[in-house]
Order: sequence, then C-alpha cells, then structure tokens
Amino acid sequence: MFERELATTAAAMVAPGKGILAIDESGGTIKKRFDSIGIESTVETRRAYRDLLITADGLSQFISGMILYDETIKQVAKDGTPFPEVLRKSGILAGIKVDTGAKDLSGAPGEKVSEGLDGLRERLAEYRKLGATFAKWRAVITIGKDIPSAYCIAANTHALARYAALCQEAGIVPIVEPEVLMDGNHTLERCFDMTENTLLALFHALYQQRVRVEHTILKASMVIAGKDCPQQASVQQVAAATIRCLKRTVPAALPGVVFLSGGQSDEDATAHLDAMNKRGPHPWELSFSYGRALQAAPLHAWRGDPANRVSAQAALLQRAKLNSLARSGKYSPDMEQRAA
Ligand code: 13P
Repeated sequence: MFERELATTAAAMVAPGKGILAIDESGGTIKKRFDSIGIESTVETRRAYRDLLITADGLSQFISGMILYDETIKQVAKDGTPFPEVLRKSGILAGIKVDTGAKDLSGAPGEKVSEGLDGLRERLAEYRKLGATFAKWRAVITIGKDIPSAYCIAANTHALARYAALCQEAGIVPIVEPEVLMDGNHTLERCFDMTENTLLALFHALYQQRVRVEHTILKASMVIAGKDCPQQASVQQVAAATIRCLKRTVPAALPGVVFLSGGQSDEDATAHLDAMNKRGPHPWELSFSYGRALQAAPLHAWRGDPANRVSAQAALLQRAKLNSLARSGKYSPDMEQRAA
C-alpha cells in the first residue's frame, strides 16, 4: 500500500533546489526562542509567529516542506484557513513531529531516549487526515566520557525503526533523525566514529523492522568538532568527513539526506552544505532541514511586533534562498555580504 505515494512524497521533499523548514519546536523549546527576543510564549504569539513563516510569499521556490508541531498543525491562519491547507495551496508539504521528546534513559546517566510510540498508529492516522504527508522523529545522541553507550544507540535506533515502520504503514514518509549533539569538547574524529556507529545501527534496525529505505529520509547531523573543542575544523574538513561517514553507512537506495543545523551559525550551516554539494554528485540528494539556521534571522527581525512581519518574512526568504543555492553547490560566502 501507498508505494507510489510514498515515493512521490519522498522525491518532492528533496526536490532539486529545495529543502525543509523545521518549525516544530516543542512548547519548551519555542519558549526558549521567544525568551531570546523578550516576548512571552502564548498560544497566540506562537500562532502569530508560525503564521508569518507559513504564509511567507514565494517560499515554495526554496522550501519543499515544513515540519509542524502538534499545536501548529491544528491552528489556522488569520483568515481562518488551517495551516496545512495554506501550505498545500502554496505547494509546500506539511510534516509533523511525532516523538514526544527525549527523556532520561534509565540506567544510563547522561543519556536520553525519545518517547512517543504509544498510540502512534492512531496519531498518524489523525495527522494524515489533517494533511500531513511526512513525519519526523528525533533521537538524541550525546558524546561525553564513555558515552554514547551501545545501549543508548540500540534503544534509540530501535524506536526510530518502529516509528518509521508505522509511518510507512500509514502512507507517511518518515524522517529518521538521530542527532549527534555538538555539545562538548570532543574532536571531529570522535564525532565521526560516533556518527558512524549510530548510522550503522540505524540502518540495521530499519532493515530488521522491514522499513523501506526508498521511502525514508535521513535527517543527519554533520560530522563536526564539539562546540568546546579547541580545535575547530575548516568548512572543507567538515564537508569531507561528513560525506565519508555517509558513504560508509547510508544505502544508495535512500532518496535523500537532509541536515539539521544543530547550533551552527547560519553562515556555517549554509557553507557546509554548499561544500558537500560541490563535492557531488552523491548517491542521495543532500539538502537541509534547518530550524535555527533558517529561523534566527526572521525571529530577530520580528521581535513579536506585527509591524515587523514583512521584514521578518524577507529575512526568512533570504536565508531560504541562500540554502537553496547551497543545496545545489551554488553558494558563495560573499553572497552574505551583498545581502547584509
Ligand atoms: P536545528 O536546525 O535548529 O538543529 O533544528 C532542526 C531540527 O528539527 C532538530 O530536530
């Protein structure tokens, strides 16, 4: 069932020149973002902010899909149109985050496991009725002294595969996201090894649980030194290491890999993606599914003031355009100066 539909959706998610905008922050995360601009997080401020992102004119040139949160997929634009319908009309796919968050993993200090499998079949059916064509589940892998443990990687990749199988059964393309965090002082080499371990375990779990990789999108973190590592890698080193790691671990049958930004600066996230695509062609499309690296500019332009709506949308469009170029290996850092 759904074979053709899943293939069409997956191809559209990573269509040439396009990538994904993640606006699926949970209640706690969006509060943090709003705190940074000094505005209160209420149902209405969240709606108004997501409204300006979702209704930005011209975004579909650069953005194939948007990942929504449970609250947002049920909200409406100012004129009363449900958000998924606004997206559908502008040619953007609606996605939905379905994990219910990373919780402490029992018996594994400092490690997390993502929850959300209970009742997932029913929730997916409801989201599909609301217009979702793809979903996302984020697992968190932390690098530290003696971690990640094999136990943590196994628990998280098992859950990712169970989620992905349920998505495909429901006609929804799963984005599987095992995020290896940038937090810490680890080297790029250690990030490489832990990302390699994680991806090998993930694709093994997907295989065991009969998930079709042809109808799956990987959301990956880049292979990068920890934020507090004194030795930061160059753009070219990050690009080379990330591609090498993906080639070792990701089946060629997968239609696309989209990267998260993970706390990188806007410019770094764009430059890394561009450098990887300049090294192409690769077996898979390589694109973006950025949250912060696409939203930092519009969030700060908006600052909760309706009068700033248009300039915030312009800031979003500019970042989306630069990442669209990077996604095709056609970006250059001097485009940032011209835009400033
Ligand atoms: P960042 O790009 O801000 O890391 O967010 C992407 C995302 O959706 C993480 O799950």
